Amino acid sequence: LDNGLALTPPMGWLHWERFRCETDCRQFPFDCISENLFKAMADKMASDGYLDAGYEYVIMDDCWLAMDRDSEGRLQADPDRFPSGIKALADYVHAKGLKFGIYEDYGTKTCAGYPGSLDHLEIDAKTFAEWGVDYLKMDGCNVTPDEAMEAGHLEMARYLNETGREIVFSCEFPLYRGDKANYSVAIEACNLWRNYNDIEDSWVSVTNIVNHYKKNQDKYVAVAGPGHWNDPDMLIIGNFGLSLDQSKAQMTIWAIWAAPLIMSVDLRTIKPEFKEILLNKHAIKINQDPLGIQGHLQTTINDVDVWLKPISPNVGGEFSYAVGFVSNRDDGYPYRIEFTLRDFGLNNTAGYVLTDAFVSDETTVVKNTDKLEVFVNPSGAVLWHLVANEA
Ligand code: GLA
Repeated sequence: LDNGLALTPPMGWLHWERFRCETDCRQFPFDCISENLFKAMADKMASDGYLDAGYEYVIMDDCWLAMDRDSEGRLQADPDRFPSGIKALADYVHAKGLKFGIYEDYGTKTCAGYPGSLDHLEIDAKTFAEWGVDYLKMDGCNVTPDEAMEAGHLEMARYLNETGREIVFSCEFPLYRGDKANYSVAIEACNLWRNYNDIEDSWVSVTNIVNHYKKNQDKYVAVAGPGHWNDPDMLIIGNFGLSLDQSKAQMTIWAIWAAPLIMSVDLRTIKPEFKEILLNKHAIKINQDPLGIQGHLQTTINDVDVWLKPISPNVGGEFSYAVGFVSNRDDGYPYRIEFTLRDFGLNNTAGYVLTDAFVSDETTVVKNTDKLEVFVNPSGAVLWHLVANEA
């Protein structure tokens, strides 16, 4: 969507994967979907280094709504869980230097059964703008016929634009439309879009998403760029399902894909070693590269995937690169692979300045014909940042 926003992949926090639709604040006062939860996360994002690292959007997902619109047809938040109202919550988030995101659904109801936006697109866009919303995630449950979705999202993009407020538009219709999805419309209407199933808290879930992207790589790489990104769904790093190595693997692949980096984790209790992965400055720099090229799977060596992302600076016609080695293996020891960068098509004869992202900030210079090696842990990853040298 050409609205001047999301020129690099959006970064933020979204409640869905970790907090779901817990509405019982009596039993679960710290986990229920309420203004307190979002204020607590905003506090943490501002105080614990996430905002400084680039994570700026605090986004509410489903289950924030009251079951009815007000007498003038406007959406309203659940009064018990959001007693101060959404405007006040957005103000709170803004006062921390953060941006505020919200969720709706294009259909009659949201996926969890709350009022949808159908027949109310214009008034909802206005309401969101009045509240100070900076990011809208629009879901696609309860839409019949689903052929209407492409035109409907173009219409919503227009209403958002007409509010005059800068609002990132995140869509899900390509996921719901599947093979029938019109990606030209996605590029025109949306700043980012989901194309595959919801992520869950497991390595299997991450692997399913990766396999789907591998299968559709040519199609997906071609449609991504500044202002319009594929969204493989949230980072689940720091929750219950991923090991430390698997967390590095998710961060590596999401960085290479130029995927939105949207965390879904309890920032009050996350362990420091997982936080370190989310804040890894090399991975973030690769992800946020201004060229905005979605990386691709270059080759697979003995079940270790080698991912490549061309990045800036381009020196005399040669790109710099991020190279991610991600192991699909589950046997034994850190697996050794030997290669030259030239094997992967890296042709800068003056070589590259290499940083090993998860190891240290130290750099070494490597030539594209040097025999190099990496050791990749089972379901783990190594991420290299390679800046092209001047000749
Ligand atoms: C769908 C979406 C999820 C989440 C839920 C909320 O499943 O794909 O990302 O928004 O709905 O109900």
